Amino acid sequence: ANRKLLLLPGDGIGPEAMGEVRHIIAHMNEAEGAGFEIDEGLVGGAAYDAHGESISDADMEKALAADAVLFGAVGGPKWDDVPYEQRPEAGLLRLRKDLALFANLRPAICYPALADSSSLRKDVVEGLDILILRELTGGVYFGEPKEIIDLGNGQKRGIDTQVYDTYEIERIAAMAFELARTRDNRVCSMEKRNVMKSGVLWNEVVTATHKKGYEDVELTHMLADAGGMQLVRWPKQFDVIVTDNLFGDMLSDVAAMLTGSLGMLPSASLGAPDETTGKRKALYEPVHGSAPDIAGTGAANPIAMIASFAMCMRYSFEMIAEADRLEAAIAKVLDDGLRTGDIMSDGMTKVGTTEMGAAVLEAYKAS
Ligand code: NAI
Ligand code: MG
Repeated sequence: ANRKLLLLPGDGIGPEAMGEVRHIIAHMNEAEGAGFEIDEGLVGGAAYDAHGESISDADMEKALAADAVLFGAVGGPKWDDVPYEQRPEAGLLRLRKDLALFANLRPAICYPALADSSSLRKDVVEGLDILILRELTGGVYFGEPKEIIDLGNGQKRGIDTQVYDTYEIERIAAMAFELARTRDNRVCSMEKRNVMKSGVLWNEVVTATHKKGYEDVELTHMLADAGGMQLVRWPKQFDVIVTDNLFGDMLSDVAAMLTGSLGMLPSASLGAPDETTGKRKALYEPVHGSAPDIAGTGAANPIAMIASFAMCMRYSFEMIAEADRLEAAIAKVLDDGLRTGDIMSDGMTKVGTTEMGAAVLEAYKAS
């Protein structure tokens, strides 16, 4: 197989975590003939230092040509004063925009070994495995008009507009049903149809899409505020949650806190299938940032990055068995008591980035 992967390690702990994924890829290429073809690029502060912009056109071309992009993290105090258009985050925003990544997948998985470190009661989160699917390119973050108007009487008016068109809701709903089929076959759609017209349309279109060939999947609807409450009360009731950009932003951060550390959380962003090849553009990244407070100390938890690579195998390369094995390897090292500083607790064995990465690789090899 010829699997084109672009690595964009970025800044801070991004390159450190990515290093552990490189070892896994090298092993899979050598021992399993996985056929990953690796290309490299710069993004964020690293790209700004090299080219004066947060991602170069040449690296954007590479991203467009790749089957999938693996992204580390960007940003840090060093670039606090660079021009706004070239701030490190701009590189990530350009990638999302130019690759037209309209769907953001945020799994919230609570490994049994870490159930004690959640902010919730152990029985509420132990074994939790849900997926929040957030619409990423529409809604109130992008809708027009978007402005601050001076009303002239010492008052100003800030305006953001929630806009969704049928096609935008249809494609994210269809993706939710397809993802559910690979899991527990249940989708809960969340909006606020009681107070928002876009919520009424969201509800209608999700329901209509369900009737177009997805009726084998269980569909329920919940008001997004009640959904937030249920997510904290009894999150295991959910399988896939599909929701808009704003609610998805908030609900996925709430769900993140059910599972323990930022250092554990992967994500994927997917685009529409290509008309000729059927392949989706895709970017995989940990949820965490560049963690300047621990960068360079070798303390970063590489699991979020490694789990992002597992998602990459699952969703971009249909390497389901390998993805399952890699996720099981993560669970195994946690069961064995290995912990980086961010997830450390009494009686466990404290390790650094490279030891954690090596242990996951060993567990993968042994599986
Ligand atoms: P952060 O996620 O980088 O760090 C928050 C806290 O979590 C820190 O104490 C950090 O040490 C810890 N942490 C995060 N990931 C960890 C890991 N893998 N292992 C162990 N500990 C970990 O968020 P923060 O501090 O708000 O932002 C730092 C920089 O990262 C800023 O420049 C920010 O703009 C950028 N950022 C970039 C993101 C991205 O590249 N997608 C996302 C979030 C922030
Ligand atoms: Mg957020």
